[in-house]
Amino acid sequence: MSLHAQTSPMTGHSDPTLSLYHLLDQEVLANPYPLYHRLRSEDPVHWDPYLHTWIVTRYADVVTVLQHFSASRTPTPEQLTALDLPTLVPLAEVLVRQMLFLDPPAHGRIRALASKAFTPSRVETLRSHIQDITNSLLDTLQANNHMDVIADLAYPLPAIVTAEMLGLPTSDWKQLTAWSADFAEALGNFQHNPDHAPRVLHSLEEMCAYFHAAVQEHREHPRDDLISALLTAEVDGDCLSEEEVVANSIMLMTGGQETTTNLIGNGLLTLLRHPAQLEKLRAAPFLIPSAIEELLRYESPIQYTSRLAPNDIQMGGRTIRKRQAVIAVMGAANRDPERFPDPDRLDICRQDNRHLAFAWAAHFCFGAPLARLEGHIAFETVLRRMPRLGLEPGPVSWRENLAFRGLTTLPVTF
Ligand code: HEM
Repeated sequence: MSLHAQTSPMTGHSDPTLSLYHLLDQEVLANPYPLYHRLRSEDPVHWDPYLHTWIVTRYADVVTVLQHFSASRTPTPEQLTALDLPTLVPLAEVLVRQMLFLDPPAHGRIRALASKAFTPSRVETLRSHIQDITNSLLDTLQANNHMDVIADLAYPLPAIVTAEMLGLPTSDWKQLTAWSADFAEALGNFQHNPDHAPRVLHSLEEMCAYFHAAVQEHREHPRDDLISALLTAEVDGDCLSEEEVVANSIMLMTGGQETTTNLIGNGLLTLLRHPAQLEKLRAAPFLIPSAIEELLRYESPIQYTSRLAPNDIQMGGRTIRKRQAVIAVMGAANRDPERFPDPDRLDICRQDNRHLAFAWAAHFCFGAPLARLEGHIAFETVLRRMPRLGLEPGPVSWRENLAFRGLTTLPVTF
């Protein structure tokens, strides 16, 4: 959700065939890279007349946007009330407290407090649990010779891990996944589908009530989990309010699910489409960390994010006006030949692979160590236990949440 500036950029001609809106075409959704290539080479700082926003696609410019532009892009509850949009106020109440939508100093405060709770040792203690969860998910499938990677592994694994990490009943994972998908729709889509809005808002109401109850329960029975740690985290006498704990628990839950699902799904699809690379990885599992970075670069689970220009700024020969919205397309920057030699080639041994799939600078993904760990265990276990893994024939279908790039299903045999 963002308030896009309504002023025309006065840049004259803007080619409609370059609109990011074409991601709604199934063909472009299946392979957005030719569109990104055109944007990067023909109009790297592009005014999109349909989305009423700037689209930035070169690696260097995406880094500039992520480093220097404002993340405070959601309308406040007061602005929405003034705009006579009261139904969106509950969503804004949550978003304005999430670290992802804050600028300094508010961002640094929330991130530092949350870092007290989400420590490297907390991630490390999850390692054996992640392996156990992966094993038990695959155990139930081993008797078959086929599975849907998305439904059978990529959805449940991060959902169960996230529930366990936060200190929520793991049996609630399907409900948590459904809420996360609705929340991701509010964050990731620019279609503004009015038919979906009531469901998304209802889902948010239920999720907030659930998390407030969980916070209450954790206050009464503190234990060694992330919600308890967020409730007691302290920096120089400052603590998170209950509203901030709820908003950022929701952020950690949604941030940790859709994305990791897409790393596992997109990653396995990509390996299966590149059999020589897959065989190389099977033969040398020590390459898994570098393969994960390459898979994140090649089919990034989050394709873009947005920011607002802090001032009038010159970029790529264009003037971006103060407070105009900018979409930074990490999926395009990750295929920029100026930064990555032969960018459309998958190379699990690629060196100097500083991709932008986890973004850059202050908002660099807070959960990256956990995502890498889950990805590592998922890929290692699948490749080890399923030596004859193969794609089932037929087209694959991509989810229509455009910022979050992921598959609806991935049927495989093994
Ligand atoms: C492959 C999996 C993942 C990918 C590709 C990913 C990607 C990203 C990206 C691109 C951002 C920055 C967005 C922006 O700057 O607008 C981000 C931020 C964030 N991610 Fe992740 N993420 C993943 C997994 C996770 C996990 C597992 C968690 C939590 C356990 C998580 C929690 C967060 C949080 C809290 C932020 C906000 C950080 C801040 O604003 O300071 N993410 N992630």
